[in-house]
Amino acid sequence: MSHFRLSIALLLPLSFLLATADASSDSVITCQGQVHRLACDSGVISVLTAQFGRSDPQTCSEGRPAEQLRNTNCSLDGTQDLVKRRCDGKKVCEVNYDDVQTSDPCVGTFKYLQTNYTCLPAIHLVLCEDSQTLLHCAEGQVISVYGADYGRRDGTTCSHKRPDSQIQNVDCWAPTSKVAQSCNGKNSCSVRAANSEFGDPCYGTYKYLEASYVCHYPV
Ligand SMILES: *[C@@H]1O[C@H](CO)[C@@H](O)[C@H](O)[C@H]1NC(C)=O
Ligand SMILES: *[C@@H]1O[C@H](CO)[C@@H](O)[C@H](O)[C@H]1NC(C)=O
Repeated sequence: MSHFRLSIALLLPLSFLLATADASSDSVITCQGQVHRLACDSGVISVLTAQFGRSDPQTCSEGRPAEQLRNTNCSLDGTQDLVKRRCDGKKVCEVNYDDVQTSDPCVGTFKYLQTNYTCLPAIHLVLCEDSQTLLHCAEGQVISVYGADYGRRDGTTCSHKRPDSQIQNVDCWAPTSKVAQSCNGKNSCSVRAANSEFGDPCYGTYKYLEASYVCHYPV
C-alpha cells in the first residue's frame, strides 16, 4: 500500500485531493496483436505504469519458440505516455497494438503490453457536440479537471438520431487542456462542446466532449 501511494504521488499532482481513493490497482496484460482494454466500474482510469516489450520469459509464452522469449530486457520508450493520453480520465478505453508499436524495440521477440492502473473517484461528464453545460462544485469548493477529450471513441455515445456516416469514425482522439485552463480553481464554469472551442479533430463526425473532474476545498 505504501508503495502504491508513492507511485500515485509521483505521477499525479491531484493525489492530495484523492486521499480517500480506493487504493486497489488493476493490471491488464495483452499479448502482441490483441486489443488492450481498461475499464472502471466506478470513477475514472488513472494509468500508473504501462510497458510494451518483454520483461520475463513466462508472460505470453504459450506456443512460442524459445528464441522469441529470450530477450527479457525489452521495452519501448513512450508507451506509458501514450496509454496515459488515451486512457486517463475515461471510464473505458481500448488501445490497439498498431497504435502502441510505433517502432520495434526488439525485433524477433514476442512482446506484450502491460498496464497497471487504478480507478479514481472523479465526476465523469459527457457532453454532445454543440451543447453546453455548467460544471459546479458545492459552496466553498473548486474544480480540478483531471482529463478532457473531444472526439469520438465509440458508436453509441451521442448517437441518437445521427446518420451512420456521422458516428462511424470511432478513432477520433483529441485530448485537450482547455477545459482545465478555463475551469481549474473555479467554483463553477461553463463548458461548450464545439469545434470553435477545441478545433475539429475529425471533419464530418458528430463528436462529444468527455471530461472528468473533482471538487475540493482550495489548498
Ligand atoms: C537493459 O536495457 C537497458 C536499456 O537498453 C540497458 O541500459 C541495461 O543495461 C540493460 N540491462 C541488462 C541487464 O541487460
Ligand atoms: C504491475 O502490476 C503487477 C501485478 O500487481 C506487478 O507484478 C508489476 O510489477 C507491476 N508493473 C510495474 C511496472 O509496476
